[in-house]
Amino acid sequence: MDILNIAILGCGTVGGGVAQIITEINQDLSIRAKTKIVLRKIVELSPCTASERFNLPLDLFCGGGKELTGAEANQYIQEIISSREIDLVVETIGGKSDFVYNLCLDILNSGKHLVTANKALLAERGKTIFETAEAKNVKIGFEAAVCGAIPIIKTIQESFTGDKVLSVSGIMNGTSNYILTQMQDEKLEFAEALKLAQENGYAEADPLLDINGGDAGHKLILLIKLAYGIDVSKDDLSISGIENITKEDIDFASEIDAKIKLICYAKKINGSIYATVRPMLVKNSNFLSDVSGATNAVRINNKYSGVHFLVGKGAGSTETAMSIVSDIVFIARYGDKIQNIPAKQERNLAESHKFVFPYLITFQTGNIPGTTGFITTAIGNQEINIETVSHNRHKGEKAMFSVATMPCTLGQIENAIREIRNEKPGMLLSEPKIMPILY
Ligand code: HSE
Repeated sequence: MDILNIAILGCGTVGGGVAQIITEINQDLSIRAKTKIVLRKIVELSPCTASERFNLPLDLFCGGGKELTGAEANQYIQEIISSREIDLVVETIGGKSDFVYNLCLDILNSGKHLVTANKALLAERGKTIFETAEAKNVKIGFEAAVCGAIPIIKTIQESFTGDKVLSVSGIMNGTSNYILTQMQDEKLEFAEALKLAQENGYAEADPLLDINGGDAGHKLILLIKLAYGIDVSKDDLSISGIENITKEDIDFASEIDAKIKLICYAKKINGSIYATVRPMLVKNSNFLSDVSGATNAVRINNKYSGVHFLVGKGAGSTETAMSIVSDIVFIARYGDKIQNIPAKQERNLAESHKFVFPYLITFQTGNIPGTTGFITTAIGNQEINIETVSHNRHKGEKAMFSVATMPCTLGQIENAIREIRNEKPGMLLSEPKIMPILY
């Protein structure tokens, strides 16, 4: 039986989970891989903590279990990179720093396969990394980088090779979905729900990337690369997060039988790709509206096979680690038969003002007669058909209401708002919120 020798760099929540699974079910993995899977080395600054947490023998750790300085850890990493004994390196240090970027390039340049959960690195600095893997004929496993335990990468790359992906959408950040679910179910304000997420371990101490759409954006960038063979950046996606969602927004959504979700969305229409990450109102008839708490869900609509949903845990130690271990087995089994990323296709991205959706627009105005009439007329002047106008909520001298439109472009709505501002300066007391409605 062939042997695949593995090293793990970083034995925190995910790296430790990988070591735990490889140790616990090593024989099963080797049988599935038709190759003996051997975990040779782990580099970790605090081996004792990791050893206890994941029930790992101390002699697996470089340095024999003593605490390492950064310089010592780096020395061991360099030894692993130049070792001819190691075939595959698991990078679970995380982040997109120059250090981790160069480390991944060095691993690939040394002729070793790389398996990582590092979505930020691959989404923002992945081009050279994937090119290096191609040049060196080694493989990059990154199933764990998109939605943790959900096998979405291999589903698109391996299971849908007989189809054409029309659209990919979904809930790809568990923290923001947990916050929105709490706001919806417990009638909390955003700040209260965020605090709860932090207290219950769903959000990082610095939850910025989770709530501003950045983390979900990284995942969508990788899925677009797989589904459509193009490179996009965060700027291309016009990303917005959930930090400005209020209880009122949730109520307006309920009024039209919808829930607010942070949605990753990419769709190819007539050769153009529409892609965005933003809060959307998901109609209660759409399965995604039922995906609550920290769960992730991806919806794929294919030309020949129709709609598929994959639902599961987007984070967690053994959950995310399972995807890394699956990549290890996959690489052991198929090696150079695996395609890292699909061939490049023509890059044709639609501008966000051309996105056609039904939209909900929420207005904050003075409590003055004629306001609703003026605003809805301005919307009609842009050839936008209105589906419903909400109850008008009055609070002293202020009022709020929302308008649900039939499908139109974001550009038409922006024109209507411009007309209102030009003709009635001061009528709008804040920037109207515009959210697509997903049926
Ligand atoms: N922090 C992410 C989430 C998981 O909340 O879904 C890792 O991307």
